[in-house]
Amino acid sequence: MPLDQEFQSNLIPKQNLPIPDLQLNDSVKTGEILLVDDTNANLKLISDFLRESGFKVRGAKSGWKALKILEITSPDLILLDVVMPEMDGFETCRRLKEWDKTKDIPVIFMTAIADASHPEHKVQGLALGAVDYISKPIQLAEVLARVKTHLHLRFLTKQLQAQNAHLCAEIEVRRKTEEQLRLLERAIAASSNGILISDPHQAGNPVIYANSGFERITGYKREDILGKNCRFLQGTDTKQPALDELHRAIAKGQGTQVVLRNYRKDGTLFWNEFCLNPVRDEAGHLTHFIGVQTDITEHKKREEELQQAKAREKEKAQALEQTLGELKRTQTQLIQTEKMSSLGRMVAGIAHEINNPVSFIYGNLTPAKEYFQGLTQLIELYQQAYPKPTPEIQHFIEEIDLEFLLEDWSKVIHSMQIGAERIEQTVLSLKSFSRLDESELKPVDIHENIDNTLLILQHRLRAEGNRPEIKVMKDYGQLPRVYCYASQLNQVFMNLINNAIDALESQPQPRVITISTALGQNSKIKIQNEQGQTPNPPIPSPNPQYAIIQIADNGIGMCEEVCQQIFDPFFTTKSVGSGTGLGLAISHQIIVEKHQGQIRCISLPGQGTELIVEIPINLAI
Ligand SMILES: Cc1cc2nc3c(=O)[nH]c(=O)nc-3n(C[C@H](O)[C@H](O)[C@H](O)COP(=O)(O)O)c2cc1C
Repeated sequence: MPLDQEFQSNLIPKQNLPIPDLQLNDSVKTGEILLVDDTNANLKLISDFLRESGFKVRGAKSGWKALKILEITSPDLILLDVVMPEMDGFETCRRLKEWDKTKDIPVIFMTAIADASHPEHKVQGLALGAVDYISKPIQLAEVLARVKTHLHLRFLTKQLQAQNAHLCAEIEVRRKTEEQLRLLERAIAASSNGILISDPHQAGNPVIYANSGFERITGYKREDILGKNCRFLQGTDTKQPALDELHRAIAKGQGTQVVLRNYRKDGTLFWNEFCLNPVRDEAGHLTHFIGVQTDITEHKKREEELQQAKAREKEKAQALEQTLGELKRTQTQLIQTEKMSSLGRMVAGIAHEINNPVSFIYGNLTPAKEYFQGLTQLIELYQQAYPKPTPEIQHFIEEIDLEFLLEDWSKVIHSMQIGAERIEQTVLSLKSFSRLDESELKPVDIHENIDNTLLILQHRLRAEGNRPEIKVMKDYGQLPRVYCYASQLNQVFMNLINNAIDALESQPQPRVITISTALGQNSKIKIQNEQGQTPNPPIPSPNPQYAIIQIADNGIGMCEEVCQQIFDPFFTTKSVGSGTGLGLAISHQIIVEKHQGQIRCISLPGQGTELIVEIPINLAI
């Protein structure tokens, strides 16, 4: 189908105007006739004759009556007597021709006047619009012949009029169609999109229409493309995934939308948001393809700039976040360092202050013991030499219960010695805990450090008043000396054990803290075979060995949400004032950043908590 016809069929609903078929012969035979005559005999004679000849006939005895009848009927022919009383045939005819309803009905005059002596009557009648004359006396055969002729003419005229009306309507439809076609052409030309139509029934699916939008976008002229396939717009850039999609859609006669890299006539790239659709005829058969190009190069450029700006913003935000994180960490570290250093200084000071007097006590205990033994021997010698003491001495001996005194004195000295030794031990632990000078990596006995921490926390572990004791179960494995920052590691143990004690605070018996140590691989470093599976038993990894310290309590435990936040600075589950929310954050920092290790938490509500610390044993090497 030619393209313009197709546009037309799409734009204007088809108007199948029927060409009128008037069945000429039948209509002539059965035509309706109005007979007007003031003579009854004439009326009867002619109407009988015409009825017998197959016509429908109505009669009227005057011009007035005829006009009355015509108000309700529309005969095909009027036979009109000229000479009639009141209104003659000419006047009646004049009125008929003035009246829209009757002006086209042919009128035949019947008169005896129309003879050779009065030719002007005939002229007058014809001038009034009559089509013919029948002379009286009536010849019935003549009447029939003239009636048939004029009825025939009447029907031919009607048919012509109908055909004319049909043609006029068709012309109007075409005019509108053409108007719409021109509008469509102007609109397509004005579109900023490139619009292309191809004919898939021709070899190579060539373009048969391109609008000015195509010329504006690509820089090519219509003549450059008509009859060719559009793929030349891809230049050498033919490995675009979108082209496969386009190829598939065309092969299946389907529509699709893709974004293509295309090249203008001057070789510059433009991004073509291309929309392809099949055009089908009324039966649904594919006739053409229509492709609409939208140049989105500017849009793409803006999008890319936006993406770059977004990426830059993201980078900035990340840098800011990092700085903020570092600041937070530095702040917490500063606070804690300050706290720990003043605590350390205080502990060291106290240790030093206690150490001196304890040394006096401890140092004097041996001479005190010796002196006492001397005095005891002296008393015994006196008792042997003077078995009967004076009443005054006897009274004093009884008053001081000399026998018990001599027996208990050595016990007193012994317990003083034990007490002094314990104080000495505590002082040693305090010193070792504070170790402010130890800011360097040193090989450390981890077990000793844990024990020192436990010693310092004895007061919280012991049973006191109604508070039952907390049992500490140690399951120490074989650990070599571990290179670490000892005072910082002590800080971690202190935090973890303190937290375990807190978790057991309101727990019923048995209240247990289990501390286990072992040498092992970092739990995150797993040797895998080629299939990505961990062999069983695991092959020892070439990675450095780790000291693994697990501190578990059978306390209240934590839900997963809390577990995920416990290492966040300032996060605390303790009541206001009793926890800073820094302990675990600092512990995390010390283990992960300072010792390149790991710290993890495993916990469930009601099932206790386990904190696992893993630090490499050879950090310094
Ligand atoms: C109506 C029509 C318009 C098209 N317009 C373009 C176009 O603007 N740019 C383009 O790269 N490809 C266009 N194509 C697609 C190519 O003509 C071709 O179909 C495409 O490269 C995939 O087929 P191929 O693998 O045979 O090259 C158009 C296709 C049709 C049917």
